[in-house]
Amino acid sequence: MTHSQQAPATSRLFESARLGGLELPSRLVMAPLTRNRAAADGVPGALMVTHYAQRASAGLIIAEGTTPNPVGQTYPHIPGIHSAAQTAGWRRVTDAVHAAGGGRRMFLQLQHGGRVGHPDNSGLISLAPSAVTFPETLHTPTGLQKAVPPRAMTAQDIESTVADFADAARNAVRAGFAGVEVHSANGHLLHQFLAQNTNRRTDAWGGPVERRIRFTVEVVRAVAEAVGRDRVGVRISPGQGVNSIEEGDTDAIYAALVPALAEVGPVYLHMVYADPDDPRYRAIRKAWPGTLIANPVLTREEVTADGGLRQGERLLGHGADLIALGRGFLANPDLTERLRTGAPLNEIRPEFLMHVHGAEGYNDYPVLSRGPVAPRTPSGRGARANP
Ligand SMILES: Cc1cc2nc3c(=O)[nH]c(=O)nc-3n(C[C@H](O)[C@H](O)[C@H](O)COP(=O)(O)O)c2cc1C
Repeated sequence: MTHSQQAPATSRLFESARLGGLELPSRLVMAPLTRNRAAADGVPGALMVTHYAQRASAGLIIAEGTTPNPVGQTYPHIPGIHSAAQTAGWRRVTDAVHAAGGGRRMFLQLQHGGRVGHPDNSGLISLAPSAVTFPETLHTPTGLQKAVPPRAMTAQDIESTVADFADAARNAVRAGFAGVEVHSANGHLLHQFLAQNTNRRTDAWGGPVERRIRFTVEVVRAVAEAVGRDRVGVRISPGQGVNSIEEGDTDAIYAALVPALAEVGPVYLHMVYADPDDPRYRAIRKAWPGTLIANPVLTREEVTADGGLRQGERLLGHGADLIALGRGFLANPDLTERLRTGAPLNEIRPEFLMHVHGAEGYNDYPVLSRGPVAPRTPSGRGARANP
């Protein structure tokens, strides 16, 4: 089943825009989407080369959460960017996007899971701000398992993790990315430092908000020093409880974090669950002087209808500079063309989203010129919006 939508006359979404040194052909950004299609050693292979090349017409691609060091691995078959083989694998991806007309308009999301990890996935005991166990189950090669308690990071762990992010960013640039997105959202390691329920530290990295924001700020600073401010963005998800995160004092966290980041000067801030009616969105837009990427987070119905276009336009009207869409790009390699022309959108096939490894439901979403859409599964099951 497909859904029609109104063809827009003109839209600011399809205007070109600048991001640091990049000229983007539109304001539409592909949001990072974990799909577990890397090899077991985190090396991106042919499946991922095809997947991203298919989506080269996006204004900007932010490639999926990628592990900056071995202990930061969340799930099986997550790509990494800490070995030479992983870097070479990503080089093949960015070269294919370039050859498909996508230029170098690609950032790589650096995602350290912190307590969202398992020794059966990483081979290591997970590291976290404090020894607070992730209360959910995790996918492992032998199925779903309960999380094991993480080890609280020492000051030396913190220092070496910051350095690992900087090294991972250097590798990403070697691999042909225009930059990296530091993942400080969705309950992963950096977010665990921000949040009260996961950061129980009493040293210089915990306690009052000024100390809880420090790890994110230092990671961003180290990455900016390693590869340049124009090559680093930051993702945040204020007030969202993904991966059992409970920030506690959300407004105080972001009132401190956003100006502190602005002083370091990354090229963009990327906000998940951006909603122009939410005072939090307006406060962040006001406090952030640079490019704001807004990810509206749509209902499943909106994803396959004109929700991305409508919500994107609203956010552009309320100060956002670029609009990130996740599931829209997942199911429509040519999403920009479809939204521009009002063409129908493909339905997501939720059974192939994550923790499966083939091309099915990954590289076989049809584009307009290839004619009729592929067979669909019944549309009752929803896609997980934020793993
Ligand atoms: C299958 C899937 C994988 C995702 N993986 C990531 C990820 O690696 N990093 C991240 O920050 N967000 C991830 N997200 C969240 C998306 O980037 C996005 O915020 C979310 O899908 C909402 O946008 P949408 O309504 O346009 O899909 C994922 C979402 C889905 C559905």
